[in-house]
Amino acid sequence: MSTQPPMEVAAVGGGMFTYDILLPSLYHMQRIGAIGGIRVCAINNKPLRELKEAPHFAEAFPGQTFEAHPPLDAPADALYPDLYKEVLASLPPYSAVAVALPDQLHYHVVMEALKNNHHVMCVKPLVHTHKMALEIAGIAREKGLFVGVEYHKRFDTRSLMARRHYGQGHFGEFVMGEAKMIEPYYYRHSNFQNWFTCDQTDPFVYVGCHYVDLVCFITGLKPVSVSVRGVKRRFPNGKEGYMWANGRVVFENGAILSVTDGLGYPDEGAGSNEQCLNMYFEGDDKGGHLKHDDQFRGVCHSYLEGIGCAGSHFNFVSPDFFQFVPWEGAGHKPVGYGYTSISGIFGVMNRMRAETAGMSESAALERRRAIIDEVDAQGLFATPLNSNYNELVLEAARESILNDGINVDIRA
Ligand SMILES: NC(=O)c1ccc[n+]([C@@H]2O[C@H](COP(=O)([O-])OP(=O)(O)OC[C@H]3O[C@@H](n4cnc5c(N)ncnc54)[C@H](O)[C@@H]3O)[C@@H](O)[C@H]2O)c1
Repeated sequence: MSTQPPMEVAAVGGGMFTYDILLPSLYHMQRIGAIGGIRVCAINNKPLRELKEAPHFAEAFPGQTFEAHPPLDAPADALYPDLYKEVLASLPPYSAVAVALPDQLHYHVVMEALKNNHHVMCVKPLVHTHKMALEIAGIAREKGLFVGVEYHKRFDTRSLMARRHYGQGHFGEFVMGEAKMIEPYYYRHSNFQNWFTCDQTDPFVYVGCHYVDLVCFITGLKPVSVSVRGVKRRFPNGKEGYMWANGRVVFENGAILSVTDGLGYPDEGAGSNEQCLNMYFEGDDKGGHLKHDDQFRGVCHSYLEGIGCAGSHFNFVSPDFFQFVPWEGAGHKPVGYGYTSISGIFGVMNRMRAETAGMSESAALERRRAIIDEVDAQGLFATPLNSNYNELVLEAARESILNDGINVDIRA
């Protein structure tokens, strides 16, 4: 048994993803001994204060906390855009860096993490260009560092079932499909208005990528062309963003996936968003079909107070994505594919640490590279090497949406 201390973790970004999913996952992994100390770095200390003060964290994880960068007593209006560099440099080598920043900043932080010899978990999409994804894949393989891209929908049981059945030929061949992911309207009033602008990103890149990745994950088919048309609106701060997008993705076998995305699901609605996947297949003169209602999963709650999404009372709650439930220790534990996906990525890093403990540096490097190759080939966890078709799709999608929906062929 290894005597090395558990892996230190730095989360970079203190926004919605960190609040809703990442920090609770890290706290749970910390108390079961899967990770050690947690640092959280944001551009200023406002979100860090919210993370520290949220009562549900104290209830779920009594006595646990994180190290704030910048500290909570720093001036409230000061910005620290490069502080993450100091935080990453302060970690012991082969620590973990969890990147939960606006998409366009991922590349810089991932590269800085690799420079400091850390493993990386990055929220999707990893980066916005294929070239960047290949560069990250090359450096990570060379240094034997694991980079996992957090596409949590892959770990929804229904997605794993679909991948297994498709692989066994039970559906036939994918030919036509539609997916939808409409996020809440209130996102327009959040920090999104500072970065979700037309020149940087759009709803197809933001959430459409989930379903494109999922269809590739289920079928193994690669996209060959993309067209995306968007609808622009102004955020409350006056900046212009694409609030709606519709994309058509054509796959290598001629199959077509239509993807509709937006920031517009009514805040008064019962679901926290709208999402679904519908796929048609053909085989042996018969049709196959898969239909996932990803929004209404059969559970409704009506609360006395407005504690639901956007302050709502009546909610379709997902027992599958991310929930707190009682557990055998003090507090509550996170369950669902949001947690499984994150803990799985950290599991690969911990496996590397355990299997290389006590080895010479050269033997350890070879072992870590062999694990990377194994994970790349298995294709369960998204990595820069095995999922960079996503960056190809996103690059083509950006070219298309900025040119009013022209068809863009994908060239690797
Ligand atoms: N919100 C979700 O449920 C969700 C789900 C999956 C993936 N994601 C992805 O997570 C990423 C972030 O999304 P979000 O919803 O948390 O956004 P957000 O706007 O709520 O938060 C962004 C955070 O980044 C921090 N930040 C910005 N520049 C920084 C810098 N230079 N150094 C340190 N911190 C900096 C800000 O302080 C802020 O806390 C995006 O890539 C998004 O696609 C979000």
